[in-house]
Amino acid sequence: MAVKVQQAILQNSEMGYFDIWKAAIEERTGVQITADRERALAILLNRRMAELDLLDAGEYLTETLDVTRGAQEWSGLVDSLLVKETSFFRHRPSFDFVAQWVKETVTDEQFVGPLWVWSLGCSTGEEAYSLAITVERAMREAGREPRFGIVGTDISREAIFQARRGIYRTSKMSAVDESTYAHYFDQVGKQLWRVKADLRRRVCFLTSNILTDKSPLIRRKMHLIYCQNMLIYFRRWKRRELVNQLIEHLDNRSCLMLGLGELSNWTPEGFARVAPRAVQAYTQIETVEQGEAL
Ligand SMILES: C[S@@+](CC[C@H](N)C(=O)[O-])C[C@H]1O[C@@H](n2cnc3c(N)ncnc32)[C@H](O)[C@@H]1O
Repeated sequence: MAVKVQQAILQNSEMGYFDIWKAAIEERTGVQITADRERALAILLNRRMAELDLLDAGEYLTETLDVTRGAQEWSGLVDSLLVKETSFFRHRPSFDFVAQWVKETVTDEQFVGPLWVWSLGCSTGEEAYSLAITVERAMREAGREPRFGIVGTDISREAIFQARRGIYRTSKMSAVDESTYAHYFDQVGKQLWRVKADLRRRVCFLTSNILTDKSPLIRRKMHLIYCQNMLIYFRRWKRRELVNQLIEHLDNRSCLMLGLGELSNWTPEGFARVAPRAVQAYTQIETVEQGEAL
């Protein structure tokens, strides 16, 4: 159990159970339960207690927050609670920027491949596969052998399970054009498509909580970190703290991409925001001359 929350319970603090749940979720995942999410949390907790045939709210809380005994229940709650909405090529200007950045990077004489990309908070995988398609194409268009790897991570086990399967409904693929379907997907059912095995082999998915994970795969240096629509659920100071941690993972001459507006009025030290304005991308200051500094 997280230390602060455990202390709150042990000291029989004035916090009600619901406040302890909210504090525990934020402490462990970074995700803030704002007023508009409280109802969803209350409904979920009540439903789980009914399913487990439990009457004692304190017992359910204590057991679930126990790191060992409650691990499975906790993971299920997190899966049900977090917003995992995503789609292929969700923010087109960002993917256009990735394509341009990849071409510039891999044609730079100092670049030593393979190119490593991290899709952080990748949900069910659409973002990581969109990055794989974009990088593969950009490398070929730049006349380079497509030597790259994509790492997709998310706290949700269920989302990562789906990501590894790589099977999607047409409804999630409205931004996928015909030539992309033809090159990168196999039809596996009515309205169902699977990412081709060649591309799937390039993408490795891991269940990982960004606040606590020390996995060596993530600890490797990355050339591009793509993290969109995750930080918006975190408090502003927490976003900055995390971004400062993320840039430690970046290799020289690399890039961090966030969702538009997820970090405002602040730029990590040693980095500069680069054009275009419809994209929130940062590169190390010594590489800014490659792009157009804002
Ligand atoms: C709204 S989805 C965004 C998916 C994708 N990045 C996109 O933009 O389409 C946010 C994702 O962040 C994940 N997430 C939230 N907190 C996390 C944490 N502490 N560590 C890793 N992933 C987290 C959620 O499980 C969810 O899948």
